Amino acid sequence: MSLYPPSDDFASNAHIDAATYDEMYRASVENPEAFWGEQAHRLDWITAPTKIKNTTFEYPDVSIKWFEDGELNVSANCIDRHLAERGTQTAIIWEPDSPDDEAQHITYQQLHAHVCKMANVLKDMGVSKGDRVVLYMPMIPQAAYAMLACARIGAIHSIVFAGFSPDALSDRIQGSQAKVVITADEAPRGGRNTPLKTNVDTALNKAGTDTKVLMVKRTGGDVPFQAGRDVWLHEAEDGVANSCEPEVMNAEDPLFILYTSGSTGMPKGVVHTTGGYLLYASMTHKFTFDYKDGEVFWCTADVGWVTGHSYIVYGPLANGATTVMFEGVPTYPDAGRFWAVCEKHKVAQFYTAPTAIRALMGKGDDFVKPYDLSSLRILGTVGEPINPEAWNWYNDVVGKGRCPIVDTWWQTETGGHLITPLPGAIPTKPGSATKPFFGVQPLVLDPQSAEVQTEMAAEGVLVMADSWPAQMRTVWGDHERFVKTYFSDYKGYYFTGDGCRRDEDGYYWITGRVDDVINVSGHRMGTAEVESALVAHPAVSESAVVGFPHEIKGQGIYCYVTLMEGQEATEELRTELSNHVRKEIGPIAKPDVIQWAPGLPKTRSGKIMRRILRKIAEDDYGSLGDTSTLADPSVVDDLIANRGG
Ligand code: WTA
Repeated sequence: MSLYPPSDDFASNAHIDAATYDEMYRASVENPEAFWGEQAHRLDWITAPTKIKNTTFEYPDVSIKWFEDGELNVSANCIDRHLAERGTQTAIIWEPDSPDDEAQHITYQQLHAHVCKMANVLKDMGVSKGDRVVLYMPMIPQAAYAMLACARIGAIHSIVFAGFSPDALSDRIQGSQAKVVITADEAPRGGRNTPLKTNVDTALNKAGTDTKVLMVKRTGGDVPFQAGRDVWLHEAEDGVANSCEPEVMNAEDPLFILYTSGSTGMPKGVVHTTGGYLLYASMTHKFTFDYKDGEVFWCTADVGWVTGHSYIVYGPLANGATTVMFEGVPTYPDAGRFWAVCEKHKVAQFYTAPTAIRALMGKGDDFVKPYDLSSLRILGTVGEPINPEAWNWYNDVVGKGRCPIVDTWWQTETGGHLITPLPGAIPTKPGSATKPFFGVQPLVLDPQSAEVQTEMAAEGVLVMADSWPAQMRTVWGDHERFVKTYFSDYKGYYFTGDGCRRDEDGYYWITGRVDDVINVSGHRMGTAEVESALVAHPAVSESAVVGFPHEIKGQGIYCYVTLMEGQEATEELRTELSNHVRKEIGPIAKPDVIQWAPGLPKTRSGKIMRRILRKIAEDDYGSLGDTSTLADPSVVDDLIANRGG
């Protein structure tokens, strides 16, 4: 396996070289209190913390607190403290969907004014500390203003990805009992407009809450307006003060809720808090990307996902960086858009998902070649394992062999990178997320016996032995679910839900989820969510959903559907069911395959044997394993005979 070390020149100019990594890593795990107490100085505290770490993974008394007597404000850390030195520096570069529209450069001073005004508008709408605000926004600067405005007044934001359906939005509005939803008239993406405001209306009708709506004018399209409930931001901001005192927040006050999919039930609200999250987002942004003052950093994620939270907004802005916000998609107007934007804004760090790399690789090198990519220094990936072919293309064609690739493994729950190369310190291997970040203590357990694998080369499930500052603290409204989901299968550890291999050099290779979560284009989806959408259709009696390998998306969605007695299995119905799932959850959940299944393979006690369904979906019948425990083994033959549709 080839090893890709950084050049000497790169390593000697990097924040962290190999020796520093070893020394800091050792310090961070030998004495976490001292290490994190020292690192906490990176933030501006109103009251400096004296209690650094107070965490236990002991089942069922799991409790996680960092810097618990410290006080600070996230928006003051991301804006105000930079004003004296870099008030006129660009904080956000906004690149609109269409390259024909002009990009915007928002300075830290301007950011301050925008955020303060929006904070004052929210206060006028009755939002105060601890209240929840849902954001359902396009990728426009106002999305970042809204996040920071909430943080400024101590409101808890919960962002719902703008690609989610009104039903999914409605569930999340109800789940958090939001006082206000912030949205826009429409969201342009790839030349098409999503009717955000109309979706919000549908969601609120269903939710039956008395949530108010704050609307940003993005396209100027004609959208419904309900007087007394809806407020236009530009009207409300008129005459509002452009300063707003930041609220004093405890380090453990919630900063945001973000819903994510799990192996069972409906998505859960992951809760992140103020001090530990911000410190960790800021440190990982600086060290993983070797970010230096004045550089332009671009993370292509959407703020609707955790990657957008930590690496478009909080991490970069805490570091006084210039961060790019891109409204569009990689293939519009053509497959060269990413590289055009890198050239135009002289991007130094570029961070995207393997699914995008694979899709662009498929379009050919000619979309990359015309652009001057000499400003690039670091390339990053996130969200799913990257296959060596895509890694090599990224390295050779985009990075011209001179940009270290950081393959960052982490989760919504972890708040920031846990396993990742630090580019000046750790030689990379294509497909490996390499080594743990400071303070992170991964272990590999045998999935059955739960024994810790002590050999360096090992394979099993990935757990964490101790807490790090940006760890999620609880599930919104359901602490028991938090404890049960992450701490009950392997007692004393945080269970990631991922499988992994550790090689003889101590490098970690993530092998994918070991639970019923699938990863479609880097987006997490619970198979249970898709199943529940399918059975909500009157024609469907039962369904089972599994992932299968997909060339571009990483995994695709494969649905086995048993119809109601007497229901005819037609092509029209197949399309209808596919659209139905899309409507219930959103376009990202659209099934790739729907197979009619007269019966599903079940044990005699009625449990569906997903292992078998996965194998059939993967086209791998040689290793179906023992099917003799099935109540009716013949259903398997039928499923194999009718595979794929
Ligand atoms: C997967 C995204 C391999 C993993 C930040 C994890 C990865 C899930 C990587 C979390 C990576 C994320 N290599 N797999 N570099 N990064 N994953 O919550 O299965 O949307 O558990 O967070 O994505 O997805 P989530």
